Amino acid sequence: MKALIFVSLLVSCVVPAQFHPRQPAQYRPLPPLRMRASIQNKWTTERIAKIPKLLKKHGAGAWLICQREHAEDTIWWSIKNATDFDAHRRTVLLFHTNDSSLANTPNPLKWVDNIGQVWPELRRVLGEYRPFRIVLNTDEDIAFAGGLHVGELAILQRELGKYWTNRFVNEPMLAVEFVATKLPSQLEYYRIMQENVWAMLEEGFSDKVIEPGVTTTEDLSWWFREKMQLLNVSTWNQPRVSVLVEDSYPGWEGTEDVIKEGDILHIDFGITAMGLNTDTQHMAYVLRTSGAEPETDVPDSLKEGLRKANRLQEIVLGNMRPGLSGNTVLHQSLVQMIREGMKGQIYSHPIGDWGHDAGSVIGFLNLPAYVPVLGELPILPNTYYSIELYAYHFVPERNETIRFRLEENVAWSELSQKWEYVYGRQEIFHLVDGRKRSSLELIEQTTRP
Ligand SMILES: *[C@@H]1O[C@H](CO)[C@@H](O)[C@H](O)[C@H]1NC(C)=O
Ligand SMILES: *[C@@H]1O[C@H](CO)[C@@H](O)[C@H](O)[C@H]1NC(C)=O
Ligand SMILES: *[C@@H]1O[C@H](CO)[C@@H](O)[C@H](O)[C@H]1NC(C)=O
Ligand SMILES: *[C@@H]1O[C@H](CO)[C@@H](O)[C@H](O)[C@H]1NC(C)=O
Repeated sequence: MKALIFVSLLVSCVVPAQFHPRQPAQYRPLPPLRMRASIQNKWTTERIAKIPKLLKKHGAGAWLICQREHAEDTIWWSIKNATDFDAHRRTVLLFHTNDSSLANTPNPLKWVDNIGQVWPELRRVLGEYRPFRIVLNTDEDIAFAGGLHVGELAILQRELGKYWTNRFVNEPMLAVEFVATKLPSQLEYYRIMQENVWAMLEEGFSDKVIEPGVTTTEDLSWWFREKMQLLNVSTWNQPRVSVLVEDSYPGWEGTEDVIKEGDILHIDFGITAMGLNTDTQHMAYVLRTSGAEPETDVPDSLKEGLRKANRLQEIVLGNMRPGLSGNTVLHQSLVQMIREGMKGQIYSHPIGDWGHDAGSVIGFLNLPAYVPVLGELPILPNTYYSIELYAYHFVPERNETIRFRLEENVAWSELSQKWEYVYGRQEIFHLVDGRKRSSLELIEQTTRP
């Protein structure tokens, strides 16, 4: 009993820092496509310029990427120009460490070929540079370092022969570090994207879009898709809207329910633009307003549940020091969570070039305590993470234990040497108030001629 009181005091005494934006989010247009392309190309040039140094760091002399149109290497998507939509024919890229400005050689060297001309030239260039270790993307577990197709490996072995083939190595952290590392100038646009995400959440989870008793979770999911079209962004997964009840888990599909008063709503969705991706989960509450005593706020028990999930976010971010493995961060965070008397699960991941980006993961939904390979990688700085987790909280009004599921994107700040929320984090429920809707309809009716 004593322990219980202590625990509940501990939880309610922790006043979370205020990261919920005080002003409503605004829709902020991204630049026109032509300008986006020129901004993205500058980023790509700057990121690619880091590769020779990365090669040296990993003790390699070259990085050979070989692919065909429609069978691109995963890494291609982080290297290509903004106006390229695939690799043409066979596209061979050779990154090297020869930055001799006298030689004025491009880096990467690039061949687009479908008659086999590339091979003698590649052999000649390798003969000049004599790289001792040549990285190929052949990793078995890490997608970003494993994008070489089997046919490309076969042809490389045949055309380059034993001499060069013996120098092929798998060096997965080369690709991981290249993809994971973001530029300071990307953050400004990432923040605009995140504000748009919040503006969509605030509009979508409101009486403007939801009519309790009529709107379904599926309707809401498609509303988000259509809204993205209007905002000139796309997505990397179907928005999943669910009504949260005990023991419903994280269905990948969301639920197909009519949204009713008293429902706890949840969404998991992200947007894609300018080579960047977001991933956010928020919760909303549909006020009970049709009874004799209409609700004006979310019940305290739900606020408490959200606070627990917020506390879990702080625990993860506090433990997430660059250099530690994802598994170490996971273990330390789970221990701290248990010590603070909470139950929940952590499954956070890198984000950026991809919704699930290169780098160490901190838990997986099906691997709650330890993740082989991906969890053993080090947490890198200068990257973005999606802090994805849930805290359990018992809701007495429902006699149910609900998973309070949140996901928020953070960026490493060189200045503060900490992870900072890109736009903010949810600390207050989005509220759907059916009464506002009827008064809106009333005003519309009475102002009509
Ligand atoms: C989307 O693109 C169209 C066509 O260029 C433009 O008219 C519109 O203003 C854009 N909308 C936003 C929100 O950026
Ligand atoms: C991107 O465009 C530049 C300029 O046209 C070109 O030199 C470079 O090879 C292109 N990069 C890739 C990966 O195709
Ligand atoms: C760099 O490339 C130039 C031109 O191909 C060559 O002359 C030089 O020897 C190379 N240097 C190294 C260190 O590979
Ligand atoms: C609450 O739920 C538990 C388990 O589902 C059940 O045994 C109990 O009777 C319920 N309590 C009330 C007040 O409904």
